Amino acid sequence: MASSSERPLDHRYRDEHPVRTLGYLFRADRRRLWAAVGVFTVKHSPVWLLPLITASIIDTVVQHQPIEHLLLSTGIILFILVINYPLHVLYVRLLYGSVRRMGTALRSALCTRMQQLSIGYHSRVSAGVLQAKVVRDVETVEQMVQQTAETGLGALTVLTGGLVIIAVRTPEFVPVFVIVVPAAALVVARLRARLRTHNERFRHEVETLSSRVSEMTRLIPVTRAHGLEGKALHRMDGTLSRLLTSGMRLDLVNGRFGSLAWVVLNVVGVLVLAGAALVSYYDVWGVTPGDVVMLSAFLTTLTNSTTTLAGLAPVITKGLESVRSVGEVLQAPELEDNEGRAEVTSVRGAVVFENVAHAYEDGDRPAVRDFGLSVRPGETVALVGASGAGKSTVLNLVIGFIRPTAGRLLLDGTDINTLDLRTYRRFVSVVPQESILFDGTIRENVAYGMDDADEESVRAALRDANALEFVDRLPQGLDTLVGERGARLSGGQRQRLAIARALIRDPRVLILDEATSALDTRSEALVQQALVRLLRGRTTFVVAHRLSTVRGADRIVVMGEGRILETGTHEELLRRGGAYTQLHGGQVA
Ligand SMILES: Nc1ncnc2c1ncn2[C@@H]1O[C@H](COP(=O)(O)OP(=O)(O)OP(=O)(O)O)[C@@H](O)[C@H]1O
Ligand SMILES: [Mg+2]
Repeated sequence: MASSSERPLDHRYRDEHPVRTLGYLFRADRRRLWAAVGVFTVKHSPVWLLPLITASIIDTVVQHQPIEHLLLSTGIILFILVINYPLHVLYVRLLYGSVRRMGTALRSALCTRMQQLSIGYHSRVSAGVLQAKVVRDVETVEQMVQQTAETGLGALTVLTGGLVIIAVRTPEFVPVFVIVVPAAALVVARLRARLRTHNERFRHEVETLSSRVSEMTRLIPVTRAHGLEGKALHRMDGTLSRLLTSGMRLDLVNGRFGSLAWVVLNVVGVLVLAGAALVSYYDVWGVTPGDVVMLSAFLTTLTNSTTTLAGLAPVITKGLESVRSVGEVLQAPELEDNEGRAEVTSVRGAVVFENVAHAYEDGDRPAVRDFGLSVRPGETVALVGASGAGKSTVLNLVIGFIRPTAGRLLLDGTDINTLDLRTYRRFVSVVPQESILFDGTIRENVAYGMDDADEESVRAALRDANALEFVDRLPQGLDTLVGERGARLSGGQRQRLAIARALIRDPRVLILDEATSALDTRSEALVQQALVRLLRGRTTFVVAHRLSTVRGADRIVVMGEGRILETGTHEELLRRGGAYTQLHGGQVA
C-alpha cells in the first residue's frame, strides 16, 4: 500500500487541468478503462439496434417477405439481449474496479499527506474541511467518472448508432433529425433545469432542518434546565413551516415542468411519426412502414440521449472541482521537512535556546523573542506568565511543531533544524492541557504507538500514574472502553491516563501543559504524585498552574510578552520581589 500511495504525492497538481490530473490518477488502469468503453458499446447496442430490427420485422410482415427474415431478426435481437448479462458483469468489473481503486488510492494519499503536513497547517485548516475532502470530494470524483462513463457513454453510442442507421436507411431524414433533436432536447433540458433549481432550494431547506435538529438535541439539557422548551419548539416550528411551503412548491413545479417536458417530447415524436407516415403514404423517398416506426422511435431515444448529455455538465463540473480541491491538499507545501536530515538515535536531554524568536505568520509581532536558556539533562523548567505570554509557543518549539524564525535551538548541542524530528520525537512525551483520548480501551489508549507494550508495562505505567486503582475497579479493567474522547471518565482520571501514556514511553524530554481546570483535593493530590514520578530524571518543560509543580521545579522561567522576565527558584524569585511575586500573588496561588 505504501509504495502505491506515496507516488501520488510527488505529482504536481497545482496549475494542472483537473482532466489531466484524472488521467494521471487512472494511469495504472488506463487499459482497463478502454476495455470498459469497448465492452459498454457492445453491451449497449440493443438500444440503438432495436428500432432498426423492429423496422425490419414490420417490413417483413407488411411486405410478406420470407418468414426466415423474421426468424433471423428475432434471433439477432435475442442474442444481443442475452449477452448483455455477461458483458454487463465484465463492464462493472473493469470500470467500477478501476474507479474504486482510484478512490482508495486517493483517500490513502490524502491521509498520508495529512500525517506529513505541519501542525501549523492543521491549526489553520479545520478538521471538518479535511474530513470532507477525504469522504465527500473523493466520492464526488468517483461518481463523476461512473456517471460520465455510464450515462454519457450510453447517450453517445445511442446518438452515433442512431444517426448512422438513419443515414444508411433514410438519408433524407438526417437533416430533420439534426435540427429537431437538438431543438427538442433544448426545450426539454430547459424545463428540467427549472426543476433542478427548485430541487436545490428544497435540499437547502432540508439541510437547514437537519442542522436545526442537531442544534436542538445538543441544547436539550440547557433548554430543559432553563424551562425554555416552548422557545425551542417555536424555533423548530418556523423551520418546519418553511420546509412545508418549499416542499409544496417543489411538488407543484415538479408536476408542471415534468409534465410539460413529457408533452413536448411526445408531441414532437408524434409529429415526426405523422410526417414520416405522410412521406411513406405518398411513396416519396421509398420509405417503408418499418422506417416510419423506426424514425419515431429514434426521435425519442435520440432526444433523451441529448438531454442526458447536457445533464452531465454539472456533474462533470462538480467532479472536476473536487479533483482540484483534493489536489490542493495533496500538494500543500507546508510539510514538516524531515527528508535527509540526521536521525536521532539517543537523547541526553540538554536543550539550549540561543536567542530564539518565533513569529507566527499572521502575528504582527513575535510571540517569543530574545529567548535564551540553557537546560541541563534532567532539569525541570517551569514556565509561568500571563495568558498570551508565549508559554505554549516555547513548548511547541521544543516539540518541533514550529521552528525558530530567529536564533537557534540546540538539542544535545545539535541544531534541531538539522534533525529528523520523527526520530527525535521517539524520545519525547507530551501531556497536553486537554488529555486527548480516543474511543478505545484503556489499554489501547495508554499503549498508543507502543506495539510491544505488554500487560505488565501497561499496569506499571498506570500504577506510577496513580491510575491503577481506579482502572482495577472498573468492571472490564484494562479493557474498559473509554468512550469518544474519554467521555466515560472524569477529568482527573483522563489526566492520569495521559500521564500513564507519557510514562510508558520512558521519554528523555517531557513536555507538559498543565490543565488549568481545578480538581478536587484528592484527585489533585493523586495527579500531583503521578507528576512527580513522571518528571524524575527527565528534561521537563512544564507550563505550570499548580503551585506544587512550580515549587518542585529546578528553575522557574517567568515570561511576559514573549520575553524572559526572570529566572530562578521559587524562593529566589520570591525574595527578589519582581514579576514572579506579582504573578504569585495573583495567578499561581
Ligand atoms: N497559531 C497561532 N497563530 C498566530 N498567533 C498565535 C498562534 N498561537 C499563538 N499565537 C499568539 O502568540 C502569542 C503567544 O501565545 P501562546 O499560546 O504561546 O501563549 P500562552 O502563554 O501559552 O498563553 P495561555 O496561558 O493563555 O495558554 C499570543 O499573542 C497568541 O495570540
Ligand atoms: Mg498556552
